[in-house]
Amino acid sequence: MMRRMRRLRKPGIRRIVAETRVSTDDLIMPLFVDERLESPAKIGSMPGQLRHSLESLAKEAEELEELGVPAVILFGIQEEKDEVGSGAYDPRGIVQRAAERIKETTSDIVVIADLCLCEYTSHGHCGVIKNQEVANDETLPLLGKAAVSQARAGADVVAPSGMMDHMVGAIREALDDEGFGDTPILSYAAKYASSFYGPFREAAESGYAFGDRSGYQMDPANALEALWEVRLDIEEGADMIMVKPAMPYLDVIRMVKDEFGMPTAAYQVSGEYSMIMGAAERGWLDGERAMGEALTSIKRAGADMILTYYAKEFAKKTQE
Ligand code: PBG
Repeated sequence: MMRRMRRLRKPGIRRIVAETRVSTDDLIMPLFVDERLESPAKIGSMPGQLRHSLESLAKEAEELEELGVPAVILFGIQEEKDEVGSGAYDPRGIVQRAAERIKETTSDIVVIADLCLCEYTSHGHCGVIKNQEVANDETLPLLGKAAVSQARAGADVVAPSGMMDHMVGAIREALDDEGFGDTPILSYAAKYASSFYGPFREAAESGYAFGDRSGYQMDPANALEALWEVRLDIEEGADMIMVKPAMPYLDVIRMVKDEFGMPTAAYQVSGEYSMIMGAAERGWLDGERAMGEALTSIKRAGADMILTYYAKEFAKKTQE
């Protein structure tokens, strides 16, 4: 008897033996909203992606809901930036207004608010600066305030992305104190200092004035350290945890999933998206297939949910 693995690779049979299937249900669409815009503007570094006005954002969320995309994550771009990132916890800040607006125009799409100071600080770092460094403990109360203002505006989930130590604990406490004990935290627990965030800088205008983020984001060389990061966030009350970026860190996604079995998110970041879409634009590869393969690899590695700029396209293609 010869074991012929190819027997199961015929078209119909392939379908029933497939181990991994990405569904629209797994996907979370990141959206950018810019308070200065009257109508949407293209993001040059991210083919097919837009920076929205409040108006067009609300429409986009409605469309996504109709397409069956279960959740969006919001990034705000605000005119005024200052040393302490006040825009992040301004009750009338852009993300707060955006969350409120989407809640008015949709029925059950989940609104996740990215929670970080970097889009609102004049220096572009993810916390307040002391002696040319991001001061961890001084930043925590501001993150707590931002979380409460986002929850108050209608955000269903808050997603701290600044990699401050004890951010999850501080945010949990602030939310609980203000009556938002039911608001879950999706923590960017293992976030690497990655060059793959490059295109996002243009999208969110969140470049930094000096230094880099290696003082708070993780070293790409480390995987065991990611287990510590995730463990601490879980102990502090994270409800869901994230690994970011996704494809260069598939091993980390797998380790985290096996170790904790928590609802695990992976962020296919701007650089991962633009690499594929940019190459597809040049005709160097088949964008749709490459995206499908990339998302499948992320899910196969253990991700329960994937943040991807391709969510809308994926949903559309699936519906067709
Ligand atoms: C900010 C933030 C970044 C991203 C999400 N939140 C940029 C950074 O940390 O430098 C990147 C997302 C992407 O590249 O798609 N805290």
